[in-house]
Amino acid sequence: MARLESEIPVRNIVRTLAIALIFLFLAPIVQAQDLGETIQECPGTLTGSTQPQQIHLQTTEDATTMNVIWATESRTTGEVQWNGQTAPSSDYCYNHDMAFHMATMTDLVPGEEVTYRVGNDGSWSTDYSFTPIDPNSNHFEWISIADHGDSSEGMDVSEAIISDNEAQLVTMSGDISYADGEQSAWDDWFNFQQDSMTTVPWVTAVGNHENEPGYGFTPYEHRFDSDGEIESEGFWYSRQMPGVHMVFMSTEHDYEVGSTQYLWLEQEFASVDREVTPFIIVYGHSPMYSSNSYHGSEVELRSALEQLYVDNGVDLVIAGHDHFYERTWPVSAETVMDTGYDNRFARGEAPIHLVIGMAGRSAYEDLDEPQPDWSAYRENSTYGWTRWVYDGDAREISMTFYRLDGSIGDQFILQDAPLNNEEDGKFLGVPGFGSMLTTVAIFGAALRRLR
Ligand SMILES: [Fe+2]
Ligand SMILES: [Fe+2]
Repeated sequence: MARLESEIPVRNIVRTLAIALIFLFLAPIVQAQDLGETIQECPGTLTGSTQPQQIHLQTTEDATTMNVIWATESRTTGEVQWNGQTAPSSDYCYNHDMAFHMATMTDLVPGEEVTYRVGNDGSWSTDYSFTPIDPNSNHFEWISIADHGDSSEGMDVSEAIISDNEAQLVTMSGDISYADGEQSAWDDWFNFQQDSMTTVPWVTAVGNHENEPGYGFTPYEHRFDSDGEIESEGFWYSRQMPGVHMVFMSTEHDYEVGSTQYLWLEQEFASVDREVTPFIIVYGHSPMYSSNSYHGSEVELRSALEQLYVDNGVDLVIAGHDHFYERTWPVSAETVMDTGYDNRFARGEAPIHLVIGMAGRSAYEDLDEPQPDWSAYRENSTYGWTRWVYDGDAREISMTFYRLDGSIGDQFILQDAPLNNEEDGKFLGVPGFGSMLTTVAIFGAALRRLR
């Protein structure tokens, strides 16, 4: 159809004008449905291609439903077709020359592959497949990144994610496309990730670069529908995954004690049954702990939330913002609570904090010296991604930080059970503890001789 139109430009112009007039007449009665008041209906001037692009899955709170969002140049309606079912899209715009469409696939069976396509009679996408994650599964693999963008290194990270056939989910701790007001950068970013995002949902925490000049958070809100409804309160939410309760919070909105977000976090942590779900991971953009003074530790964030995380047994806090890699020991109030054994830790001492802002955006070259006591490992001038596996039989999570060349930068395991006493890093790892035991033994022997 597009080729035919380009061969007959006069007919094309007349047709475009006619469509524009019809839309101008219909505009007052074509309303976006079931969406919040922040939704804008699309202007009749959007008359380009109806071919779906920027197609991406978006998880909901319900493992048996999955949203899919896509864009078209043209103002049009759409639908998703899957498993012999059809659902219409909600169609909406923001201040950018693209129409967006969101539709929900329902009645999914977790663990069973779904094939779907989006579009309408004029233009359909190709068929895509995904497998809904079963929260009761005892095995789960995922990738976590932050500070991505569109540099060649960022594209290399994307390629690595696209070629990973085992990862079931991608999380992003903010600073996603670095569009910074240039909305076509978002379009390009989504199109580049489409091969991954059509088969694996990407779940995001919002970063400071999602607060765009002239747009605020509007583009982020309209392009990622994190909680199944386009609305202004979509900046913090959770997803239940096998063995892991994932909490996505916003370091870019009020998190002070007593704030709406704080109260939500409190309630969220309390709701997790740790017998069923051993681990809680918090994803947020700015780090509480970072030894890189380019941004550094967000002290206000730490004052407001660290105690809440410690009290509620949060296991891992995954941040970005500083463009390097750093892992802390389990730490509370800058005090190292545990040093584990051979990069293996038992959960429950204190959260381990990671800064993983090395997914593509300009890597920081310098590290501040000395390395703080709470910093277990850090690496600058580096790009890569982190890959995670939950093993339900062992009730443990393993993390691997891969550099772009595939080499491993860092690794650790966090287990639910206490560490084996003979290998208990808490004793072996605390400096001076061994010599203290020796002193006690010698003193005891001397006392016995004196008797
Ligand atoms: Fe960043
Ligand atoms: Fe940032």
